[in-house]
Amino acid sequence: MLAEEIKKRRTFAIISHPDAGKTTLTEKLLLYGGAVNLAGAVRAKRSENSAASDFMEIEKQRGISVSSTVLSFEYNDHLLNLLDTPGHQDFSEDTYRTLLAVDSVIMVLDAAKGIEAQTLKLFDVCKRRHIPLVTFINKMDRPSLEPLELMDEIERVLGVRTVPINWPLGNGDYFRGVFEIATKQLHIFERKAHGSRKAEVKLVEPNSEEVASMVPSHIFETFNEEIELLQIADEFDREAFNRGEITPVFFGSALTNFGVQLFLDKFIDMVPAPGVRNSNRGPIEPTEPSFSGFVFKIQADMNPKHRDRVAFLRVCTGKFERGMKVHCVRTGEQIRLAYPQRLFAQERETVDEAFPGDVVGLVNSGELVLGDTLVEGEDVQYDPIPLFPPEHFCRVLVDDASKRKQFSKALELLKREGAIQIFWPHDEGVRMPIMGAVGKLQFEVVEHRLKTDYGVEARFEPISFRLARWVVGKEEDLEKFEASRLAMRVSDGEDRLVCLFPSQWDLDYTVEKNPQLQFLSVSPN
Ligand code: G4P
Repeated sequence: MLAEEIKKRRTFAIISHPDAGKTTLTEKLLLYGGAVNLAGAVRAKRSENSAASDFMEIEKQRGISVSSTVLSFEYNDHLLNLLDTPGHQDFSEDTYRTLLAVDSVIMVLDAAKGIEAQTLKLFDVCKRRHIPLVTFINKMDRPSLEPLELMDEIERVLGVRTVPINWPLGNGDYFRGVFEIATKQLHIFERKAHGSRKAEVKLVEPNSEEVASMVPSHIFETFNEEIELLQIADEFDREAFNRGEITPVFFGSALTNFGVQLFLDKFIDMVPAPGVRNSNRGPIEPTEPSFSGFVFKIQADMNPKHRDRVAFLRVCTGKFERGMKVHCVRTGEQIRLAYPQRLFAQERETVDEAFPGDVVGLVNSGELVLGDTLVEGEDVQYDPIPLFPPEHFCRVLVDDASKRKQFSKALELLKREGAIQIFWPHDEGVRMPIMGAVGKLQFEVVEHRLKTDYGVEARFEPISFRLARWVVGKEEDLEKFEASRLAMRVSDGEDRLVCLFPSQWDLDYTVEKNPQLQFLSVSPN
């Protein structure tokens, strides 16, 4: 039974640069999955005036989505868990952490823009974990770059081989369909005013009168030449895909639904079901009968009325049941999982059971922290959640001396939740912490939390560091460590040396000066 449940599941996330179409594709996957209500909610969540999504004060003020949620829906006898990631430009570390809890990723690219800055950063995390990555090249209904150019860019910039699964007929106004390479059939679509209903698809022969009459002759000719060339393209190699070495590429348009169904059908077949996870006992199979899982994200203050924290737990092995007693490996304490929930925006639904690949929200009052492993049976500790490289830094000052103790306590708790990174300068008289964040918005969240949860008013002064690297090496080499003049040595609070740099130049200079040391962009275990 457990093996059957695992086989059905696909747990994935979508990464993209803002505006490439992640929200639209999410909505269309839900539409094709028959979860129309959820699809409506995704749209509502994006809309600035939506009351449903504004469960955090900051979201309300800024009209943006800070928190991430999990969307579960069925499609063709499969259960899809889509882990939604914060979509705003000013994204947070949660986006990176979500990628630690999935088994595959969809990378959405804008066909007119190719790889953009944020896609690249998120891709790096996928590459480090060897996560199978499927590429969806979106907005083909707008003037686009040439398909070959886009594939070449993916290979060059990301260093991963591309395997086209379909090929577009035209782009912009002449985007009329996609050619499925495996079946050699062309899927032709009727363009509707809007894409709230599934697109009608007709299968035709690519090199036919009918197709020739649809597009100008030069498009028809180029298309036929290209699909001729595709006959010698690499075939999809599942093993290489599972190792993250190749990415299958789909062309389409989420807005008009062109290519969405073909994409979804192939996607569930290509991407792996929940698999083994690394732990201190080595790789653990999901089919191990006793329950285990790890916390990859903590969300606090989701609803001012609740005033609680939700720990998002990814189930890794066994069956999760409501009310079950587990223990937290870090503290050794027994916890009864009485209120497991599935969350979407403000909706909370009680979960009675869950299987590997599922995500449950555990309401708690602070006893669970980021990276915690919960087990029913024998102790096991899944790989710790690393710290990702912050790009923004602030000095935090608390003027009211009577609040300093409260402030220190709050910092420790916020750090454990993963809301912010705290660094301690090595050589300063006053021990004033420096906060680091992946997205500037994290500072606003922390400022808000300090005030509302802990009654501490803090001043945040931005400082001009841009890069952080964990410095690793032998003791004697670390003693000789020489950084550029403007770099600053700090500790990350776990006794690990970190160096903050104001520019790439400073980083490059320091790396060159210290060939015997390693400069890691993600915290070492
Ligand atoms: P994101 O979540 O990655 O940030 O992107 P999102 O889906 O919000 O899409 C960004 C904009 O691009 C939206 O337009 C959306 O309608 C449009 N879009 C998404 N997919 C396609 C596509 O396949 N073709 C075309 N032509 N446009 C697409 P907007 O004007 O910002 O919002 P809206 O007013 O349409 O809601």
